Amino acid sequence: MPSVNRQVLLVSRPTKSAGLDNFRLFETPLVPLQQGQIRVRNHYLSLDPYMRLRMNDCPSYAAPQPLGQVMLGATVGVVEESRAAGFVAGDKVLATFGWQEYGVGTAGDLRKVDDSCVPLSAYLGCVGMPGVAAWMGVHRILQVKANETLIVSAASGAVGSVAGQLAKHLGLCVVGITGGPQKCAYVTGELGFDACVDYKGGSMPNDLEAATPAGVEAYFDNVGGEVLDAVMARMKVFGRIAVCGRVAEYDGANIPLKNPGLILDRRLKIEGFGVMEQKGWRDALEELCRLVSSGKLKFRESIVHGLEKAPEAFLGLLKGRNFGKQLVKLT
Ligand SMILES: NC(=O)c1ccc[n+]([C@@H]2O[C@H](COP(=O)([O-])OP(=O)(O)OC[C@H]3O[C@@H](n4cnc5c(N)ncnc54)[C@H](OP(=O)(O)O)[C@@H]3O)[C@@H](O)[C@H]2O)c1
Repeated sequence: MPSVNRQVLLVSRPTKSAGLDNFRLFETPLVPLQQGQIRVRNHYLSLDPYMRLRMNDCPSYAAPQPLGQVMLGATVGVVEESRAAGFVAGDKVLATFGWQEYGVGTAGDLRKVDDSCVPLSAYLGCVGMPGVAAWMGVHRILQVKANETLIVSAASGAVGSVAGQLAKHLGLCVVGITGGPQKCAYVTGELGFDACVDYKGGSMPNDLEAATPAGVEAYFDNVGGEVLDAVMARMKVFGRIAVCGRVAEYDGANIPLKNPGLILDRRLKIEGFGVMEQKGWRDALEELCRLVSSGKLKFRESIVHGLEKAPEAFLGLLKGRNFGKQLVKLT
């Protein structure tokens, strides 16, 4: 067994955009376990947009992470050694050990997962936190109904792809928004959305109008910024917007709404939500597992290999270089 654990630490806060110099690769010795502890070899590390908010020392829905510590984040892996009841070597577990090759925790830090029906990596994506965020937004926040029209932004990504497919299963007309023709083709061809608009194509407002000629009842917002402005113009009276994320603003300045008057003119209901505060995770995970294992919910992953690739892959995620759930494979 190796004697060293490699980690990525946050060593400085970005002044504007995040850069590779905000991170440092670090090595620390693996020490013997104490009674009650479990050592896990992390197999996959999840990279998520919220991590960019944690790099700032200012209030947001994600608390700042201290400098000089391992970047926080969800992991799945295999127990290598256990001195705790209920866990044995070989158990597959979900944890939040962050950007490192090994994690040590107690039983309360780990959740056993079953990779016989869905792959281990999916517990970080469509049957993990991003999938549950999609489920909560569609079912609990927007409370969508059959025959409505829903727009979903970042539609090819971890959350957006699930949100749109869930809404299709419920009988909605679903229009995605994503960056580039390849991602648009995937959203309609593979995921089964009714239409998709390329927001980088230069004619987003016109393309959205063409895709939603009668307007829309609901919007699942993952990005904020100019995309939100364009979608607000398509909202029907009494339309609902679930604000799940604002990734267009995470690595730069806030982008003010161009036309806030629409909120009153159209009597819009806009609700932000954090998935960790939502109740009903068990229901969500049961449905997501069932849909994935029966092939009714498709997902795609962008995987880079090796811990040292995590910072670059993370910066790419903030620029849309990922195509599907961004993961780092560590073994
Ligand atoms: N509220 C919660 O509890 C919760 C939980 C999970 C996730 N979220 C939020 O949900 C959103 C999606 O997360 P995810 O994990 O599914 O990420 P993701 O969609 O897999 O990856 C991020 C995507 O954001 C898009 N993007 C990046 N910069 C953009 C910009 N300037 N304008 C428009 N789109 C841009 C890119 O897609 P394109 O190539 O299509 O631009 C990129 O692929 C994020 O905002 C995240 O913070 C919130």
